[in-house]
Amino acid sequence: MSIYNIAVIAGDGIGPEVLQEGIKVLNTIAELDGSLHFEYTYFPWGCEYYSQHGVMMDEDGVERLKDFDAIFLGAVGFPGVPDHISLWDLLLKIRKSFDQYINIRPIKLIKGAPCPLKDVNREDIDMLFIRENSEGEYAGAGDWLFKGQANEVVLQTGVFSRKGTERVIRYAFETARKAGKSLTSISKGNALNYSMVFWDQVFEEVAKEFPDVQTASYLVDAAAMLMISDPKRFEVVVTSNLFGDILTDLGAALAGGIGLAAGANINPERNFPSMFEPIHGSAPDIAGKGLANPLAAIWSASQLLDFIGHEKYGQLVLDAIEGLLLEGEVLTPDMKGAASTAEVGDRVSKIVSSLMPSVMVE
Ligand code: NAD
Ligand code: IPM
Ligand code: MN
Repeated sequence: MSIYNIAVIAGDGIGPEVLQEGIKVLNTIAELDGSLHFEYTYFPWGCEYYSQHGVMMDEDGVERLKDFDAIFLGAVGFPGVPDHISLWDLLLKIRKSFDQYINIRPIKLIKGAPCPLKDVNREDIDMLFIRENSEGEYAGAGDWLFKGQANEVVLQTGVFSRKGTERVIRYAFETARKAGKSLTSISKGNALNYSMVFWDQVFEEVAKEFPDVQTASYLVDAAAMLMISDPKRFEVVVTSNLFGDILTDLGAALAGGIGLAAGANINPERNFPSMFEPIHGSAPDIAGKGLANPLAAIWSASQLLDFIGHEKYGQLVLDAIEGLLLEGEVLTPDMKGAASTAEVGDRVSKIVSSLMPSVMVE
């Protein structure tokens, strides 16, 4: 029996609603497999916890998480707690503490998923974003000078270390090489005359180690335009923390909507747990109503399965999501359906069960 210990931080708003469906799908797989078991430990951290205890997570929280096989997270942030406090003290704290410096976000238009572009070839939207996830504009470095005075100045410093920049770019090259795909770097060296000039330089240096990988490099503004007008240019993509954040929401809209977009925060050395989460937020506007689309959380469960070495089941979950979208019957309102969050999770689990026998005999 393989037992995996999963830390569950359901968090705020729709976080708990969507995560429950991801867990439902994981449990379906474990039960059918028989030799696989997930043990969940629930941590009640989030904005409600903050309003009761004055902290987003317990003081020893990071220590308590460090031995889990993976962390499964819903969403963090809710009106009433300033976003910079809730996110810095929970989500960003975990990414940093566990050196989850790779953020993998697939932007792939799977069969049946809606796309706002007209006449698009489905296969042309198949990108793998590798977002730097530990520094850059998210370093938390800055200053607030002369607060409230006429000469007030606020600084937010982007930090791009040699180590931090090189490791994400090298990881992206290795990923592209393994997949036999091109690698595109997205930066902004024309205006950001320190950070992005350095980024471009490191990209060129590391590229020399990978002569077999075809490369391209775009300025971020042009890249945003090209993602819409010519998405097939992008295969594996590497970019900075902030650009990756923004472009993957854009990408989500291209590939089925924010309710379908998943992300994995990876510590490749496996010194610490990695964390799997939908890329959307807590969606306060629809929270608590059973309206949230759980497919992003379910897709993150698929990424979790890949990461722990059960790629066959990771693919099975993706196939089940595709099956559900092709049926087009059990969908949440963001996908023009009338089903609830739980009904979508139930249906995906059913499809997983029906596909399971063929996977198990492989
Ligand atoms: P959001 O992603 O929560 O919502 C944006 C829009 O998308 C809303 O209209 C929402 O209803 C919709 N939406 C999002 N997820 C959906 C789903 N699964 N199904 C259907 N519709 C969905 O972004 P926001 O409104 O900018 O942020 C809300 C809060 O979440 C803020 O506090 C923000 O800081 C936080 N946030 C957290 C994370 C995270 O925890 N990883 C990510 C993004 C935003
Ligand atoms: C994401 C989110 C976070 C980020 C926020 C909530 C800090 O938008 O995971 O995409 O910017 O990384
Ligand atoms: Mn984001």
